[in-house]
Amino acid sequence: MLLEIDSLDVRYGRNHALQNLSLQIDHGEIVTVLGANGAGKSSLLKAILGMVKPAAGQIRFDGADVDRWTVPKRVRNGLALVPEGRQILTSLTVHENLLMGAYPRRDVRAADIDAIYQRFSNLAARRDMSASVLSGGEQQMLAIGRALLSKPVLMMLDEPSLGLSPLLVQELFSLLQQLNTDGLSLLLVEQNTNMALKVASRGYILELGRVVLQGPAVALAADEQLQSAYLGE
Ligand SMILES: Nc1ncnc2c1ncn2[C@@H]1O[C@H](COP(=O)(O)OP(=O)(O)O)[C@@H](O)[C@H]1O
Ligand SMILES: [Mg+2]
Repeated sequence: MLLEIDSLDVRYGRNHALQNLSLQIDHGEIVTVLGANGAGKSSLLKAILGMVKPAAGQIRFDGADVDRWTVPKRVRNGLALVPEGRQILTSLTVHENLLMGAYPRRDVRAADIDAIYQRFSNLAARRDMSASVLSGGEQQMLAIGRALLSKPVLMMLDEPSLGLSPLLVQELFSLLQQLNTDGLSLLLVEQNTNMALKVASRGYILELGRVVLQGPAVALAADEQLQSAYLGE
């Protein structure tokens, strides 16, 4: 098992963002976590990366208890997050934004950076421009490129399709499938339930911080209650 979360609780004061949440990801899997605004999806990813400290529960990654590890240590060991809203710094160039992904690591080489530019030719063409010139789709590619530069084993993405046109959403999801084929495991948080269940092998549905449904993506996609609750929009 690549990631094993056992009975995780996250609280903000009296607000219980996650309750007794257990989740597993196998090596090479794409797993999706779905749920409405406020369900606790971002809190889950932040807890895995170490940005919020859980009130209870365990997180094991690649065989190690990571609960006491700092964020940079988790990144060095293979966890990366493409955050909600992309978090591109528009006062920096494309290249400077990309390099931020290498920051926690000491072993990023020029060849690693070249590989990102080869994958994302739009970024290569704009490498010395302000990141403010990028379109929404290009900003999402930059956020993904930045995460890839930390050489993750498990990449977590927080609503990456938000705000993208249907065509760009298609491109994004085929990129995610490609990365997965190349060996990357993915934890994909989405509100685009239909697309997420197409690329994932398994899914978890969160409601108010609890897992209310989980199973193979094909079963969730066929679930009538889920269809009427989330997929009908
Ligand atoms: N920094 C914070 N302080 C207080 N409450 C928060 C904070 N971040 C999130 N919450 C609350 O925790 C719950 C889960 O939020 P979040 O994890 O952002 O959900 P989602 O990503 O599914 O929209 C919500 O009720 C939200 O208002
Ligand atoms: Mg969120």
